Parts: sequence; C-alpha cells; structure tokens
Amino acid sequence: KNAAVAIIPATILADSPCRLENLPDISDVKTLTYILEDMGAKVDYLDRHTVEIDPRPVETDTVSADIARRIRASYYFLGALLGRYHKAVVPMPGGCNFGIRPIDQHLKGFAALGCDYSLDNGMIAVSSPGDLHGSSIYLDVVTVGATMNIMLAAVKARGLTVIENAAREPHIVDLANFLNTMGARISGAGTDTVKIRGVNSLRGGTYAIIPDQIEAGTYLAAVTAVGGNVLVQNVIPKHLECITGKLQDMGAKVIPFDDSIRIIRSGRLRSSTAKTRPYPGFPTDMQAQVCVCMALANGTSRMTESVYETRFFGYCSELESMGARISIESKTATVVGVEQLHGATVSAHDLRAGAALVIAGLAARGTTRVQNIHFVERGYEDLIGKLTALGADIKRIEE
Ligand code: EPZ
Repeated sequence: KNAAVAIIPATILADSPCRLENLPDISDVKTLTYILEDMGAKVDYLDRHTVEIDPRPVETDTVSADIARRIRASYYFLGALLGRYHKAVVPMPGGCNFGIRPIDQHLKGFAALGCDYSLDNGMIAVSSPGDLHGSSIYLDVVTVGATMNIMLAAVKARGLTVIENAAREPHIVDLANFLNTMGARISGAGTDTVKIRGVNSLRGGTYAIIPDQIEAGTYLAAVTAVGGNVLVQNVIPKHLECITGKLQDMGAKVIPFDDSIRIIRSGRLRSSTAKTRPYPGFPTDMQAQVCVCMALANGTSRMTESVYETRFFGYCSELESMGARISIESKTATVVGVEQLHGATVSAHDLRAGAALVIAGLAARGTTRVQNIHFVERGYEDLIGKLTALGADIKRIEE
C-alpha cells in the first residue's frame, strides 16, 4: 500500500504510459487512480492488480477532486505536479487521525527547491517561478512522506538534490527504483542520504510494486496471537526482519524462504518490550497488532511509541473491553498478559487499529463485532477471504 500510494501519483511525471503490476486491490489505490482520471489521465485496469496509466492527457496542476481530502497520500500529487508543472494545488491531507500530522518538512523541501507555498481554504498551493533547482535538504525529523515528496519534486529539477536524514523504508526504495526505471537518476534510497540528479524527461515503463511488509506483518502477528502454522507467500523476508524479530522474542517460530515465510506458534507467548522506530526499527504500523500478542502473553510487556504519540488511543480501550489489561503512561503502554480475551462489540478508528481488533477477535473466546471495517479494507486486500482460508470464522455484515 505505502509504495503504491506514492508510485501512482508519480506516473504524472512520465511522458508516456506506465504499467503498474502487483498493485493491491484496495480502496486507497482506487481513490488515487480515480483522482488521476479526474485530472484527465487515461486509466485502464488490465486486471485487479495491474493498471495502465497514460498521463499525457493531464492538463491541470490542481487536484480538485473532493475525494482527495480523504487520504493522506493525496499529498504525493504535490511533488509529482511540481516535477511536471513547477506548480501544484492539492487539498490538505486527510487519512488516519492519530495525533497531528504536519507537513512542514515537505514544505521545507519544496522551498529549498525554489518554491513558494500558501495554505488557504483547505488547499496547499506550491509553485516555482521557473525550473526547480537542486538543493541540499536536512530533514528535522525522519519522515517517509517528506522524503518521497521531495524526491518526486526533485527528479526533474536542475542540478543535484541531496536529502539528509532521509527515511529508509522499503517503499522509499521502491519509489526510487520506479523513478529510475523511468530514467531518473536517484542514488542512496534506503540510506539516510538520498541523491537525486535532475533529468529533463522521464519515460513510462512497466513496474511491479514490492509486497507490503505491514500487510504481511499483520498476518504473521495474527498467527502469533491466535496460534497456528501458516506460510505467508509473495513477501520479501528481509523487509520483515524488523517484525519477525519481535514475534520470535515472544515465542513464535519463523522460517524464511526466498519469497515466503512460515510462522508457527504453539504454547503460551512470552512477554516482551518493544519501541517503534523508523525503518529498519520496529514499525509504528505494527504497534497495535503486536500489542494484541502482548495482551495474551505470559507476564507484563511494554510498547513504547516514538512516531505517533496518540496511536494507542485508536484501540487500547477497545481491547480492554475484550478483557485486556493495558495502562498508558505518556508514550508507553504497559500490557499485563491474560490467559484469554472475550468477544465484544468494538470499533475500528484507523487502519492498523482495526486490523488489530480483528486479530483480537480471532484470538478471543466468543464472537467479536468490529465496526467501521472500511478503515481496514483501505489497506488489506480480501482480508476476510485470506483469514477464512486459514480457518477463521469471519464474515462481513452490512449494518
Ligand atoms: C507514512 O505516513 C505511512 N503512510 C504511515 O502508514 C506510517 O505510519 C508512517 O509513514 C511512518 O512509517 C503512508 O505511507 C501513506 P511520516 P507519513 O511523514 O508519511 C512527523 C498506515 O497505517 N512529520 O513518516 O505521514 C509526523 O508527525 C499509515 O499505512 C513532521 O513532523 O509519516 C510523524 O510524527 C499510517 N513533519 C513522523 O514525522 C512532516 O512534514 C513520521 O511521519 C512530516 C512528518
């Protein structure tokens, strides 16, 4: 998901059609291709996971579709439109609401490339009087969004751009690889220093999106919480080490293969401590799912959140209504493991919190009803089908 939502806007930079493969069939992807169509691009879904995008008919530097307010990733159109038109007007980002999610580092990067910006009536307008020019940018915080957005704006800027203190997530490397197949000259993606040498034009091409480390990690956490023996296919095990290390600490057995990974959990989980960090640390997007494992472990565990201070509030009280024992003090949740959770009616407040509640429902005694499941379907293709194939008794109901 987090690679696809940056690569789809990036197609605007090409001067010929792009074919994207291994796309997740999720609402965030559909929203972004809808926005492209609304701007005039030609979008053809060859199958559920393959789309052909011809950006040539796009003739606007403005994202006017109201739907763009619903997902945070709309802000990648800023960097892509700046790269193509030296101007971009995009709605202020929406998306999962856990804590304030500023974009000051994105704007700092655009300013360094020669742009001015303004924020009024819910729109962000960024523009440069002439060509964007390369620059050195030191990010004050490690931020995935700003790293990717600055990369998008810099690929066609005049000269060299250096992003220091850059984020290193696999989806950043994937965006850089996609842009380089189009003729960009990006080096260092995946390290904390990314160099982008501007080029005059980018051509279309075919590109397969990397497997989603957080989607795969969520299924690994589900097996760890519920118990079982499961092979997760079409993954890059290296990208999952930051997650499987923690699950193994807690007692799961993990066997990596070339493009799949087997996880086995039998017997009681052990308590553990975890602290979320930017990649290659333990990912904040796995905080909620691993907290469910901690809620069922033998002993007291601690989870410290270092990226989004209020992420715990999306699901901890829901888990308590299922019998979990969690107390939150500043950025740390202390989880006293219990033998068993019990079913309840709970509500998803964001994508990963919702996934964690589904996992808790699978592990609990009795039936659990998770409301607002649309949050979860934003980022997990066929969640119910995949869990049913593993033996889960789960169904979607229209309320
Ligand atoms: C991306 O969000 C992901 N979303 C998030 O995943 C993920 O949690 C996050 O990266 C961290 O890995 C997408 O890729 C669409 P950041 P993003 O910019 O880019 C602060 C999911 O569940 N910050 O890396 O918005 C910010 O407040 C979603 O799939 C600034 O201060 O995250 C946060 O504390 C949820 N100024 C930290 O940096 C800025 O200009 C990391 O944010 C930008 C960010």
